[in-house]
Amino acid sequence: MIDDRNGSAKDVPVAVLGLGLMGRALAGAFLRAGHPTTVWNRTPGKADELAAAGARPAATPEEAVGAAGLVVVCVFDHTAVRALLDRLDAADRGLLAGRVLVDLTSGTAAGAREHAARVAAAGGGYLDGAILAVPPAIGTPEAVVLYSGAQADFERHAPALRSLAPDATTHLGEDHGLSALHDAAVLGLMWSVLNGFLHGAALLGAAGADAAAFAPLAARSTVTVAGWLADYARQIDAGAYPADDATLETHAAAMDHLAEESAALGVSTELPDLVRALAGRALAAGRGGESYAALIEQFRRPAPPAGPDGGE
Ligand SMILES: NC(=O)c1ccc[n+]([C@@H]2O[C@H](COP(=O)([O-])OP(=O)(O)OC[C@H]3O[C@@H](n4cnc5c(N)ncnc54)[C@H](OP(=O)(O)O)[C@@H]3O)[C@@H](O)[C@H]2O)c1
Repeated sequence: MIDDRNGSAKDVPVAVLGLGLMGRALAGAFLRAGHPTTVWNRTPGKADELAAAGARPAATPEEAVGAAGLVVVCVFDHTAVRALLDRLDAADRGLLAGRVLVDLTSGTAAGAREHAARVAAAGGGYLDGAILAVPPAIGTPEAVVLYSGAQADFERHAPALRSLAPDATTHLGEDHGLSALHDAAVLGLMWSVLNGFLHGAALLGAAGADAAAFAPLAARSTVTVAGWLADYARQIDAGAYPADDATLETHAAAMDHLAEESAALGVSTELPDLVRALAGRALAAGRGGESYAALIEQFRRPAPPAGPDGGE
């Protein structure tokens, strides 16, 4: 080992606080990569398998933190992180000094910035992280983990953190809120894709077609749409939306068909109604001849208040 606070050696000690489904996967990946790994969980018993694989269970979070320069926290939510920080504070104000706490708990950007300030006040470094992977993917090329916080803290521990996501350990910037914001954006994207698939499956199901038969076409269409993103991103960043492919007006007509088919088959029209409302406002703003990316203007502002009948 070179230096337990350096992060350049593969055997740099790591502490993992929180041994739920994700915390156990994180600790397992550190162990497999050769890091001496100390683990702690609020409720005893969850460290047994990890201990059998070579982890050192700690009786308290203070003991776990004291064992490593890199402290990874992965608990249920930011309320649990606050409780943990309160407990560490109460035990020893100087415990975090010189260490880097990496919080992989999901939460908001504001929460991440609040935790960063608390850890900085205790003399420690703080990286906020967002895991875009399920526990079995941790430590494999499939895993994506995003980090935000001081570049120096990230660089110091990047070699160890790559044990979790060997091909996608990414630093987004110094603003501690960036990883939570990216996490939220990706979750929104995921739910939009899934909702589109589920609505389509409901529509086809009402006409007697199986979801299994729809899945390959849905997957292929998702890949096609993914191919449009880079061009639309350029339009959004430039603030100009030339309709090189299809106009918003053409999209709006197809949205009407989707709503009509849904209503005819007794399927929920909520999803088509939402996209029609967004497109309708863009058309009213004179953007009908522009590309789909012009809808960004509708997402950039709060939705207008609902009218007395629930509409606009
Ligand atoms: N699972 C996933 O696929 C996934 C993917 C990406 C991100 N994440 C994020 O990772 C985090 C953990 O998820 P998970 O799947 O591991 O959840 P989980 O299995 O429900 O585990 C939650 C963990 O938080 C601990 N905890 C809760 N409240 C606590 C408190 N007040 N003080 C100390 N520890 C506390 C629990 O300890 P006890 O055992 O004592 O209850 C447990 O270890 C979440 O923020 C989640 O959003 C999960």
